[in-house]
Amino acid sequence: MPHGANMLAYNSLWQLRNDAWSSLEESTAQLALAFSQQRPVEQLTETVAEGLNVLGPIERFWAFPGTHAFQKVRRLFAAGKYDRCATLVARLNRTLATDSYRGGQAWEAGADDETYGREPHQSDAARTDRPYFEVLVVEDMTEDQERALREELRRWRRPDDPFVYEIVVVPSFDDALMAARLNFKLQACVVRRRFAHRSRHDTSSLRQFVSLLGSDDLMEHSPDERAQTLARSLARIRPELDLYLMTEISVEDLAGRLSHHFRRIFHTREGTLELHLSILDGVGARYRAPFFSALRSYSHRPTGVFHALPISHGKSIVNSNWIRDMVDFYGLEIFLAETSATCGGLDSLLEPTGPLREAQQLAATTFGSRRTYFVTNGTSTANKVVVQALVQPGDIVLVDRNCHQSHHYGLMLAGAMVTYLDAYRLNPYSMYGGVPLREIKSQLLALRRVGKLDRVRMLLLTNCTFDGIVYDVQRVMQECLAIKPDLIFLWDEAWFAFARFHPVYRPRTAMRAARTLADLLRSPEYRASYDEFADEVGSIDAADDDVLLERRLLPDPARARVRVYSTQSTHKTLTSLRQGSMIHVWDQDFTTKVEETFHEAYMTHTSTSPNYQILASLDLGRRQAALEGFELVQKQIENAMRLRDAVDHHPLLSKYMRCLTTGDLIPAEFRASGIDQPLRSGLPNMIKAWESDEFVLDPSRVTIYIGATGIEGDAFKRSHLMDRYGVQINKTSRNTVLFMTTIGTTRSSVAYLIEVLVTIARDLDTQITDMSPTERAAHERAVLRLTNPSAPLPDFSGFHPSFSDGHGLPTPEGDVRRAFYLAYNDSYCEYLMPDEAEQRVENGDQVVSTTYVTPYPPGFPVLVPGQVFSKQILSFMRSLDTPEIHGYRAECGYRVYLDKALEIAATARPAPTRDPKDRPDPAAAPPEDAP
Ligand SMILES: Cc1ncc(COP(=O)(O)O)c(C=O)c1O
Repeated sequence: MPHGANMLAYNSLWQLRNDAWSSLEESTAQLALAFSQQRPVEQLTETVAEGLNVLGPIERFWAFPGTHAFQKVRRLFAAGKYDRCATLVARLNRTLATDSYRGGQAWEAGADDETYGREPHQSDAARTDRPYFEVLVVEDMTEDQERALREELRRWRRPDDPFVYEIVVVPSFDDALMAARLNFKLQACVVRRRFAHRSRHDTSSLRQFVSLLGSDDLMEHSPDERAQTLARSLARIRPELDLYLMTEISVEDLAGRLSHHFRRIFHTREGTLELHLSILDGVGARYRAPFFSALRSYSHRPTGVFHALPISHGKSIVNSNWIRDMVDFYGLEIFLAETSATCGGLDSLLEPTGPLREAQQLAATTFGSRRTYFVTNGTSTANKVVVQALVQPGDIVLVDRNCHQSHHYGLMLAGAMVTYLDAYRLNPYSMYGGVPLREIKSQLLALRRVGKLDRVRMLLLTNCTFDGIVYDVQRVMQECLAIKPDLIFLWDEAWFAFARFHPVYRPRTAMRAARTLADLLRSPEYRASYDEFADEVGSIDAADDDVLLERRLLPDPARARVRVYSTQSTHKTLTSLRQGSMIHVWDQDFTTKVEETFHEAYMTHTSTSPNYQILASLDLGRRQAALEGFELVQKQIENAMRLRDAVDHHPLLSKYMRCLTTGDLIPAEFRASGIDQPLRSGLPNMIKAWESDEFVLDPSRVTIYIGATGIEGDAFKRSHLMDRYGVQINKTSRNTVLFMTTIGTTRSSVAYLIEVLVTIARDLDTQITDMSPTERAAHERAVLRLTNPSAPLPDFSGFHPSFSDGHGLPTPEGDVRRAFYLAYNDSYCEYLMPDEAEQRVENGDQVVSTTYVTPYPPGFPVLVPGQVFSKQILSFMRSLDTPEIHGYRAECGYRVYLDKALEIAATARPAPTRDPKDRPDPAAAPPEDAP
């Protein structure tokens, strides 16, 4: 136990519990020793009692060691049998620490303490590699009833069962929710009819880890309604849990009425065999990895390869004299699995009908989409597929200018008229945040003013950004749909695949927000609030822009369509080989309006020889997320919090480095909750901020401000972290470095990073002490340069009028494709050195870029094809000392258009191609069913 430690210092109960058991082992051992040596024991008994009090309220949520064993420890301690108490605690702790109870050996309640945590018998040993999980049973039952149920379920076990489980029984609604939050091992929950509402235990110490849902008048409802409410609340926290209902009343009658959250309903008198089999079957359904299994069985078949792919079955390698080390390094299995066959039990990615199709369907269930498509070429390709599927030349797309380059290229290829949106700036750190909703709304309203709203097709935003800025996805969509009811949303969630698996993150993911929004729009309560809103504002189409900008807008439920796409780099934040990504679709009009173009777009960008290993890894990554995503993401956050704590509380580290907080990265105007450091102040505060703020910060991304070191971000990354210590990071800015924790981060890797940072800080400290006055002055200048604001980050300056569509009144969108391809003609272009460009801009000339100019860092295009240069852009470029600038040649300068090219461009504008008849008429569109 963290004796005397403040519970608030702990970010996780899991960590608190582990540490508490270790401390209890230590203190009970000391107590036993002191007692045997007849030394005073008062202090030690107090410490042990304190430890037992920390564990008391939480042990009941786990099957092992279980309430009974814990009571036994308490009894031995109370009876002064310190030696036996210490032995039992040591055994339990060792079993917990090594997870060896997972083998499923019996821990009979009340058995002799020798049996707890014993090594498995020979007969058990064969079973220890079976996955283990726990099942929550919610019913107020006596100890005897509980024991009988446990025994009964154990009796159904068979040696060839694929999994083994134990049950955790809780008597109340509150306890059930706490268990779901705290016990990662739970995979299923059996709700019985008799359970209390509030917990009998004092839960005050748990409040920071769990926030309870559920209405106060729960007990006034019928048992079925209560079961229903519990199911809904559990599904909100852990949608992956299989829920079962056991009832004494007519199950046929209930089956039709009860929530779809229940997987099955059983009659109590029918016994527990069906329940037992269903529990195994439910977990088995998530465990299935159809494509991986198909590939594995295929790989073990002998084949003669008479087509391409000599590497298949390792044939070209094992017989080679020169590349056999390839097999030594990779192992043979990977080559056995290399195949180009789309038959023999395998499937085709371009037209899946078998295991791949099933794997994608399982992924759709796990990620909460209506459809999911696997992509073997990263989210860079996924983005291009979605854009091509939905956008045709001339469509207007609103997009964050700082989005990933794949969008810039995708929109260019699609011939979109692009309206760039400006994110808020974080000048002190040379970073951008997210695009404020007000900016999005004002662009939509500007397009509406000039009659172009019907040409707006899509809003494209990055959620979350590289730096961890997360949108209020539902609110953005809701307000935009109020102005433009058929707007399509593409959320680039390259960095956010994991977010689905944590209850705090989940509502801010595209798929969950789409579903919530669709449910909301269908509800009578929403209809009523919309009517009230419409009475106040009048017709949105006629309302004043200022009013619409100030108000929170509600879409008309009769017109709004929920059309949402999300692209995720599974390989970035979950388990998958590199380039494994997914496209998730939640579009009410997909089958009627998109399916065919989607297929074409998918064919455009997908190799006809997709990598099967990547596909199999996506299938397994989905399995893992479905079964242990919650646990892994929770630990990922805890590791990030550990890193933050270590940096900010270490006296030497905090002299040179500082973790940027939500308050630093999200200006107060976007934080309605007023909370500066949501997670630091406990889970309820984090939930509050995540429910209300326009932007929140993903706590697993830790941006460390290193201005005080005098070392520039990129140099810090390359020379200090990578070269000297092998620490890999991805993103830096002028004065920050970004560390992200993932589901692969371990406590030891965090400890290593902290050690490295401390060493860097210590070396720096020594160097500074030893510096000559001249060196010190240079160092101070470097610190000053990094801690003073740099040239302000530039906003998007605008397209040259030649690349506007020339139809109607001017608005900011531009035809990037025309601007891009015009430059293929060399005679239209020239190079300008920065001085000359500055001079021309100074003279009021329009200098227009032919290409994307992207300095890295920060990694967004400062110029795009067709964009006019501005003083702000040029001075920002001058202030950069980054060696990597794509689209700029140091020896020649900027590539810009000659005037004659701009004149030609102005006369060669195509007409918008989308026929107004094509435009969806939301009122007429046949709604598809919700899943
Ligand atoms: C926001 C964003 N979208 C898309 C991508 C491209 O993803 P991938 O590397 O899977 O192609 C990245 C890559 O860093 C990114 O940051």
